[in-house]
Amino acid sequence: MIAFLNGNYLPKEQIQISPDDRGFLFADGAYEVIRCYEGKLFQAEAHITRLKLSFQQLRIECDRTYQLKEVASTLIQENKLTTGQATVYFQITRGAAPRTHRFPPKGTLATVYASASPFKPHQNELDNGTKIILVSDTRWSRCDIKSISLLPNILAHQLAFDNGATEAVFVRDGAVTEGAHTNFAGIFNGEFVTAPISNYILAGITRELVLKLCSELNIPVKEFPILESDLQNAEELMLIGTTVEITPVVQVNDWQVGDGKPGSITKKLQKAFYEMIARL
Ligand code: PDD
Repeated sequence: MIAFLNGNYLPKEQIQISPDDRGFLFADGAYEVIRCYEGKLFQAEAHITRLKLSFQQLRIECDRTYQLKEVASTLIQENKLTTGQATVYFQITRGAAPRTHRFPPKGTLATVYASASPFKPHQNELDNGTKIILVSDTRWSRCDIKSISLLPNILAHQLAFDNGATEAVFVRDGAVTEGAHTNFAGIFNGEFVTAPISNYILAGITRELVLKLCSELNIPVKEFPILESDLQNAEELMLIGTTVEITPVVQVNDWQVGDGKPGSITKKLQKAFYEMIARL
């Protein structure tokens, strides 16, 4: 596969990154994942804008922002991913410098890396729903930044996998925040409810699109904390994100959501979502 590093395209196995890179030493960086359908990048501008926001919040000075959308398109072309589905990954770190907690000296260039991979949708879960587990949200309080420091997410996600689930969903102070790599929503009394934008969740690009679809479909929306104690009253639950799109949740820990089948509003949203993809 061809990947991108600091302005150059080269075979991935030839990519060399310094062991002094802040990404390696401190997970000091930000990332994005962009989905690509049949060679068409989905919401690329929104992802690139959020990437810039993330590294600005982290005070990473990155003059080398390149034309990231062009980089993504080139990776899709060069890797012959113009048919089927793919993802493009971007990562920007604070660059390579001798290890110290202080920022590196002025003039240290940020490391800009990107790669593309084929992507296979999780069709069984999209069609039949999936299981999640709830875990305590032990993450920091800047979950709005798409930082590469993902240890709590990784540990939670692995715990989900170990328990026959596909996602771990975090609970902080009694409220459900989001998944380890997804946003989370439910249908309560016919209303679409999802956690409000705050420093405790990532402002998901798919979440934003789903809110728009709700408005087009006249589904009432409430951006309001979902209490863990209220979760069993949900008619439907779903995961939302670049990789999972809109995935129905049919089981939480050891209990079943509704009748254990994907709900009608979730299916309506999925249909509208795929119609939008078909128009790309
Ligand atoms: N994850 N919340 C978290 C913590 C995430 O990591 C993600 C995305 C989302 C969904 O955001 P979006 O709709 O913009 O993809 C919500 C990516 C896909 C990942 O880590 O692989």
